[in-house]
Amino acid sequence: MSLRVSNLSVEVEGIKLIEDISFECRRGERVALVGESGSGKSLAALSVLKLLPQNFRVSGTVNSGKRDVLKLKGEELRNFRWKEVSIVFQDPSSSLNPLMTVGEQVEEALVYHGFRGSKEELKNRVLELFRLVKIPMAEERINAYPHHLSGGLKQRVAIAMALACNPKFLIADEPTTALDVTVQREILSLLGELSKKEKIGTVLITHDMGVVEEFSERVFVVYSGFTVEEGRTKDVFKNPLHPYTDGLIKCSPSIESVKVKGELQTIPGNVPEPRNRPSGCPFHPRCKFKRKVCIERVPPLKTFKDRKVRCFFPLT
Ligand SMILES: Nc1ncnc2c1ncn2[C@@H]1O[C@H](COP(=O)(O)OP(=O)(O)OP(=O)(O)O)[C@@H](O)[C@H]1O
Ligand SMILES: [Mg+2]
Repeated sequence: MSLRVSNLSVEVEGIKLIEDISFECRRGERVALVGESGSGKSLAALSVLKLLPQNFRVSGTVNSGKRDVLKLKGEELRNFRWKEVSIVFQDPSSSLNPLMTVGEQVEEALVYHGFRGSKEELKNRVLELFRLVKIPMAEERINAYPHHLSGGLKQRVAIAMALACNPKFLIADEPTTALDVTVQREILSLLGELSKKEKIGTVLITHDMGVVEEFSERVFVVYSGFTVEEGRTKDVFKNPLHPYTDGLIKCSPSIESVKVKGELQTIPGNVPEPRNRPSGCPFHPRCKFKRKVCIERVPPLKTFKDRKVRCFFPLT
């Protein structure tokens, strides 16, 4: 079973914020969606859960197993959201309610999604979830308010809440960006463990290639609303096919090969605003290998064995 997003596009007021994003995650698999700020990662995540406002036109397909997600409504959609796919956001301070204890919040989520049991059973389930996400002294912590907890512990509570209904897939949108480096490592290793132990397919959204290398088995690189490369993480790092992926790897200070060679680079220029997306390949203004055709036509996402790349002249 897999969660599959194909040819997703998102349009608002005549502007295509996302043009063509595809990615897939199998049960128990760890995948990463990576790209610079403004590339469309969060919008893609929100589209999968149908969390975008009504005036956003979403097209393409999202399948969870055989289910056609974009067609879900009402009760079916509510069940899909927590029982099949859950989401963890970047900043736990804004996803938790400051007026309720963290225990009450997880209890509320469980009851809202149909938990039937005594008060004691409910509390035990919350404790079980807190232990699953390795919150130390769980019995005391359930009575804490969010402001009593460190950023790392708050993110663990947010993850516990996302896991309350045993989802098959978890989308984590930059879950460690607001945390310091040590805590970031702990949260990533927790997500990795949960993915293996509980067979949760995890889509980690990040802009950090170091995080991609550490966490994921498969990676999808997005740029200006397009998926531009996909493949097994190991293969992509060893031999990136898209000049953008190559640039992302070379400008990441946390990657071993870059550290060894001491060649930290930058990719000149910025991700274009959706309303000013250039003609042809969206990366062409920043690409040192561009030719005439790159300015004229959008390259298709081509398959190379078990890899895909959206480039007329992929690196070899
Ligand atoms: N509500 C909105 N109205 C108009 N444009 C939007 C809206 N939300 C996002 N955008 C635009 O869509 C593009 C993609 O945004 P998105 O938030 O998905 O990027 P992202 O890849 O998650 O970036 P970041 O790494 O900064 O979180 C951006 O150019 C953004 O400015
Ligand atoms: Mg984002």
